[in-house]
Amino acid sequence: MALPFAVLISGRGSNMLALERATRDGRIDGRITAVISDRADAAGLDAARGLGLATTVIAPAPGEDRDGYGRRLADAIASSGAALVALAGFMRVLDRGFVRAWQGRLLNIHPALLPAYRGLHTHRRVLAAGDARHGCTVHFVVEELDAGPAVIQGRLKLRPGEDEAALSARVQRLEHIVYPRAVGWFAAGRLECRDGAAWIDGRPVGPAVVEEKT
Ligand code: GRF
Repeated sequence: MALPFAVLISGRGSNMLALERATRDGRIDGRITAVISDRADAAGLDAARGLGLATTVIAPAPGEDRDGYGRRLADAIASSGAALVALAGFMRVLDRGFVRAWQGRLLNIHPALLPAYRGLHTHRRVLAAGDARHGCTVHFVVEELDAGPAVIQGRLKLRPGEDEAALSARVQRLEHIVYPRAVGWFAAGRLECRDGAAWIDGRPVGPAVVEEKT
């Protein structure tokens, strides 16, 4: 049976669109039950509506704490029938209760080669450090930010003189390859989170790797 999953966004939603494409062309045996955003102005919402996907805005209420927000989010996800949650540029830190409830069924994509460069502004920091390599990581979400078991990475070599915008665009192209692959594995029952590691086909991975085609 096709895996029902929810995608959480805050912005453009290009990863959400890549996931949706993969449900249509068979790379993911799944269907998106809800696209949820914490911001009504997220551009990805219009794109999702245009594709006929159900969209929900769950904006933080004035004075609401992280737990309260997490409960409303969990309710919306549960009522959509999702069995997996894919964070795709969702810019809010989730509370412990939410993460525990969804542990092993909660994926995120991070624009760096974790464990390097957790947090924000990864491309800028990689360029400032003069690193030779960069990329993105799909990982299971745990309570510690950007610290869960890595499933798959897209990797590239930096080019001389490359700026932040160019680097970001190359990383995003890799994101659109590796995120559908990870969700596709999960939907096929090939990916799980166990003993603090990601397992694919019954073997711990550390993580799978896709190199940019040059
Ligand atoms: C991506 O770069 C992702 O790695 C990060 O947020 C960005 C979201 O981009 N978590 P988009 O909204 O999917 O285009």
